Amino acid sequence: MAMTSRSSHGSAGAQSDSDKLCHPSHPNPEQSSQKAEASHNQTERLALLFILILVLILSGGSRFEPFTVYLKHNINQHGSNSIRGTALDTSSSSSAPSKPKVCLDVQINDDIHVRYTPDADMESEQCLVYHEPSPYIDLIMKTVVGFPNHGKCNLIDGCKTALPYTPEERNYGNDWPPYGYTMVGYKRLENFRAAIEEVNRNQIPGAIMELGVWRGGSMIMAAAVSNDAQYPRNLWVVDAFETLPPGTYAGASDYLATTEQMVRDNFDFFHVLSDRVYFVKGMFQNTAPALKFNDDLGSIAVLRVDGNFYDSYQSSMYSLYAKVPVGGIVIFDDVFSHPDVLKFWLHFKQDQGITEKINRIDRHSAWFRKTRDVEIDMTRMRGPENRAS
Ligand SMILES: C[S@@+](CC[C@H](N)C(=O)[O-])C[C@H]1O[C@@H](n2cnc3c(N)ncnc32)[C@H](O)[C@@H]1O
Repeated sequence: MAMTSRSSHGSAGAQSDSDKLCHPSHPNPEQSSQKAEASHNQTERLALLFILILVLILSGGSRFEPFTVYLKHNINQHGSNSIRGTALDTSSSSSAPSKPKVCLDVQINDDIHVRYTPDADMESEQCLVYHEPSPYIDLIMKTVVGFPNHGKCNLIDGCKTALPYTPEERNYGNDWPPYGYTMVGYKRLENFRAAIEEVNRNQIPGAIMELGVWRGGSMIMAAAVSNDAQYPRNLWVVDAFETLPPGTYAGASDYLATTEQMVRDNFDFFHVLSDRVYFVKGMFQNTAPALKFNDDLGSIAVLRVDGNFYDSYQSSMYSLYAKVPVGGIVIFDDVFSHPDVLKFWLHFKQDQGITEKINRIDRHSAWFRKTRDVEIDMTRMRGPENRAS
């Protein structure tokens, strides 16, 4: 109503530019009546504003919750900020008290019970902001880690038989799932998910890549998180996709062997196979240097390395470190449980002058956020230490 009446008055009483030029300082009677009406409207608006503020104070703001929820929903559905975990947070930009950021907890040492939640502001390099997963992502995560009724692998016979399942072991990736799609466990999936949401929120460009994917479960989750966030990232799925040389995985080589087709089928099963998913087959020692010059790749926002061996990590990091932009995240799956992997990291840091510290995720893994760029000196690459080739 008010809008219609205002706009109709506006058009009837509008002065043309030539009128304004001819009579700059003599308002006519029509102008006076407009002024009176404008001041009346203003009083009306002030009164309305006053009533609104009063209601807001009396209701403690809770009455407006449906509206903020509606706003959030609409922004997520239609706005440019439709990315889960973007910087846009209506609760902090409105008069509502801002929600404190909660970081994903980290583990202090080998003991799974000694965990700690970093402070988002004071310890930002240790902090990946945590959000509850959507029911869809939660279901994917619980499915890819393997079902309880399938038990856990009997390591004595390379998973030819199964033993009873314990939730704690699966949670921290300390067992192997006979039929699961990933062996990393729930905590490391949480870390990977938070890393993807973090680079989305910080608008760090680039793909998500895992070197060493086994059955593909963690990258299946990454694809689902990426699709759910409506952030169009490419996914690079890199593995030998065949039985590694004899002795590499001792008695578990059958259990660890996969094929590219098997992993493609797994992506397809979860409806996350698309032309954004790139499969790279071969030993990292050969594929990683080639990836460095692959025009389709561009930068890598989240680089996850899960290759178990010194040489697998060395090839991956020497070739691909430079592809990770500042703000990007690097995850090492085996760094605390495989002494050779830790040895590689300490060599790499020392030889290349890398200053970032790694943050422990669980008994096995750690991550770091790249805070500065270092030009990699390829001549400092070391000879074969222990290799999967
Ligand atoms: C522990 S599994 C990876 C687990 C996986 N990330 C998951 O989510 O369950 C290690 C994988 O790395 C691969 N791998 C290890 N070293 C490699 C190398 N040098 N080149 C290619 N693939 C390698 C193996 O084929 C195996 O699939």
